[in-house]
Amino acid sequence: MTTVLAIETSCDETAAAVLTDGRRLRANVVASQAEMHQKYGGVFPEMASRQHILSIAPVIREAMGEAEVDWGDLDALAVVYGPGLAGSLLVGVNAAKALSMAHGIPLVGVNHLEAHVYANWLTPPGVDDADFVAPAFPAVCLVVSGGHTSLILVRDHHDYTLLGHTLDDAAGEAFDKVARLLGLGYPGGPIIQRMAEEGDPTAFDLPRALDVGEYDFSFSGLKTAVLRVVQDLRREQGVEVEERGQRLADATPEAEEDLPIPDLAASFQAAVVDALVTKTAAAAERYGAVQVLIAGGVAANGALRQEMSRRVEVAVRYPPIAFCTDNAAMVAMAGYHCFLSGLRSGLDLDVVPNLRLV
Ligand code: KG4
Ligand code: ZN
Repeated sequence: MTTVLAIETSCDETAAAVLTDGRRLRANVVASQAEMHQKYGGVFPEMASRQHILSIAPVIREAMGEAEVDWGDLDALAVVYGPGLAGSLLVGVNAAKALSMAHGIPLVGVNHLEAHVYANWLTPPGVDDADFVAPAFPAVCLVVSGGHTSLILVRDHHDYTLLGHTLDDAAGEAFDKVARLLGLGYPGGPIIQRMAEEGDPTAFDLPRALDVGEYDFSFSGLKTAVLRVVQDLRREQGVEVEERGQRLADATPEAEEDLPIPDLAASFQAAVVDALVTKTAAAAERYGAVQVLIAGGVAANGALRQEMSRRVEVAVRYPPIAFCTDNAAMVAMAGYHCFLSGLRSGLDLDVVPNLRLV
């Protein structure tokens, strides 16, 4: 029996999970700080690390209690060491190192992006572990989170080839910035998805940037196009628009009750989804993928899941929503596979805020 305790503190979630034999998820605790950061319209790094310091011990204790394991039952301690916010990552890595040293448990450093990929190996809640069939290789995986957007060919465990990536903003970042522009709050993805349900995705013709590299993405033009539409609508309403507001960062995050928010949200979401699905479908065909995997926070998006399943020829898999956004269950799964392949980290494990998967 191999039991892994995993710790995740890369951004604004303090999380711990316990997984046995890469199958039985015995505990999955997530303490989210999203509410705390909401009033800043994004994650406030110093506050995030201070909150991790307060939450880390109780969260680990709760996970171990729920899993009914003691230190002697653990075979490995998996911890995310990057990518993410340096101050946040340090809290998890230092906790894991201290516990590894104190209890003599092997330490396994995990890449946060690889953990997102491995969320696809977790049995969805309500499904019997024995009935769950793990993803098959070769797969094309679309990693779409708040900080990353890439298309990866996965030939086998830990065998990744980068096919393409975003040349500017990550897909999740675009959701967050457009939500901010529309005065919808943070995090933007779930709110835009909800608003889009009431809107017409063809209401505004927005760019897809399909002409960048074959498997690359670009979302900054789309973001600016949404800003232009909003500015034009405001001008039509006789509102004076500051030219300085050409950049999204300058947009005032206040409620825009007189804007057609559902149509804007639906049109924006359709443009992002179209770009993501078009490139992923092409890559899956070109590389003979037997499955397409979606990973990362944006994998929670219903329109993306639906369109991908509709337009890709092979089976499309994505984790249940709770495993899409940051959690430690996915870290435990990635950590388990790293542990099996002999990977161990020393007590000199350091955080790597800009760590890449490939
Ligand atoms: O993976 P994640 O939790 O954190 C990072 O590693 O970055 O991803 C967070 C991102 C945010 O940008 C958030 O807006 C986006 O995932 N997101 C969504 C949805 N749920 C979360 N984007 C679109 N639709 C959703 N339902
Ligand atoms: Zn993440």
